[in-house]
Amino acid sequence: MKEHLTHPVFNIISEIIEKDNLKAFVIGGFVRDLFLNRQSKDIDIVVVGSGIDLAKKVASRIKPEVNISVFKAFGTAMLKFNNFEIEFVGARKESYRLNSRKPIVEDGSLEDDQNRRDFTINALALSLNKKTYGKLNDPFNGLSDLNNKIIRTPLEPEQTFSDDPLRMIRGIRFATQLGFTIVPEAIEAIKNIKERIKIVSSERIVDELNKILLTDKPSVGLKLLEETGLLEIIFPELTALNNVETINNQSHKNNFYHTLEVVDQICKNTDKLWLRWAALLHDIAKPATKKYVPNIGWTFHGHEFIGAKMIPGIFKRLKMPMNEKMNYVRKMVLLHLRPIILAEDIVSDSAVRRLLFDAGDDIEDLMTLAEADITSKNIKKVNKYLNNFKIVRKKLKDIEEKDAIRNFQPPVTGEVIMKVFELKPSREIGIIKDAIKDAILDGIVKNNFKEAYEYMLQKGKELGLTAKNDLSKSI
Ligand code: CTP
Repeated sequence: MKEHLTHPVFNIISEIIEKDNLKAFVIGGFVRDLFLNRQSKDIDIVVVGSGIDLAKKVASRIKPEVNISVFKAFGTAMLKFNNFEIEFVGARKESYRLNSRKPIVEDGSLEDDQNRRDFTINALALSLNKKTYGKLNDPFNGLSDLNNKIIRTPLEPEQTFSDDPLRMIRGIRFATQLGFTIVPEAIEAIKNIKERIKIVSSERIVDELNKILLTDKPSVGLKLLEETGLLEIIFPELTALNNVETINNQSHKNNFYHTLEVVDQICKNTDKLWLRWAALLHDIAKPATKKYVPNIGWTFHGHEFIGAKMIPGIFKRLKMPMNEKMNYVRKMVLLHLRPIILAEDIVSDSAVRRLLFDAGDDIEDLMTLAEADITSKNIKKVNKYLNNFKIVRKKLKDIEEKDAIRNFQPPVTGEVIMKVFELKPSREIGIIKDAIKDAILDGIVKNNFKEAYEYMLQKGKELGLTAKNDLSKSI
């Protein structure tokens, strides 16, 4: 493998350890990805000795100088060099990332260290010592697991997972990313000790969920999370979707599997993480709004409104960003039915304008979500919808070109209204503003100051107001 160890850091390490009579290896994801022909941006170095000391020596040899970050509590150090993050750790007998306060003991051999890693495919190590440069150390047949596409733990799975329960989700994430199969005994172990996931921080869990969502087929991982019982613990709102009820011989669809289909479908059309999250959460309020209405069947009225309301709580609990990303997901959930409603009937310009107004710059994403939401098995129905979506898209384009609604700012401001009618802040101002907005969206007046001003005067009159100042020439 030595021809693949081209990054200059390997040579620097090799020279240092030769001089200091140490042993060091490149290990983990970098080696795994080398065999898989995947691009890797991180390099993990394990040294039989102190990782921090080795990192300092390496840094002093790099010109121009680089900063190193030392994580004393973990016994690791990191530096950035030639676009790679390079992490140094001393070989240890203890678990690699133990969730405990015990001090890190760096007194292990390479094999001790490999024993304590998460998966056999992540325990492959290449020697950096001159004599054995590039030689593979593979005590658990990780290479054959790589070739056979298998996720297996180096130790008994319960032991490896107990060392760091996040590994249960990491295993599922690797299976999803790489298209690998988790060995049955590891699946069983997850089922047995799934409760231990509760000691892992939400940030680390969400990191893995994001990685699952960023794969080509997140349903693989989401199904495994569900089957092992982990999802119930970390995301009960999603498992609540997994049921089918029947009354009077009428059943509703399983909204969990529908959601998985929508997520997989949207992944074909977008790389955007937050749009993928919106797909995952679009029907989240279906259980809360489910109702059987005699003669009509199952309804989920208002699930988009209640769903949008649930988003901040979910984001908060999972310690996800409470910023514009959350607002975006909430907006997508709120609006997700709107394009479908438009696509059901002949579309009026007014309805299209309102959708443009409400979605703003996110209109394209909303259309992508709505299209992914069509999961009917009835090809005729699917084609009808997709065709209508084409019509909606065309109308959106035409109307946007004509009326520039997307970033609509009312042409007549509240300030103008106050000045013209000499009003103090009051209810009337809101009424007139809304009337102008509606008139523009309904196509009654054009989206410009002149027409909006005229309309304001008319509305004012209807409300019994008298225009006291003329601002018609003010723009
Ligand atoms: N590791 C581990 N247990 C963990 C996390 C990491 O044993 N809970 C070990 C594995 O050997 C892993 C290495 O540390 O290969 C580096 O971890 P990390 O950078 O998180 O993951 P990668 O394997 O590099 O994969 P990715 O970059 O896709 O997360």
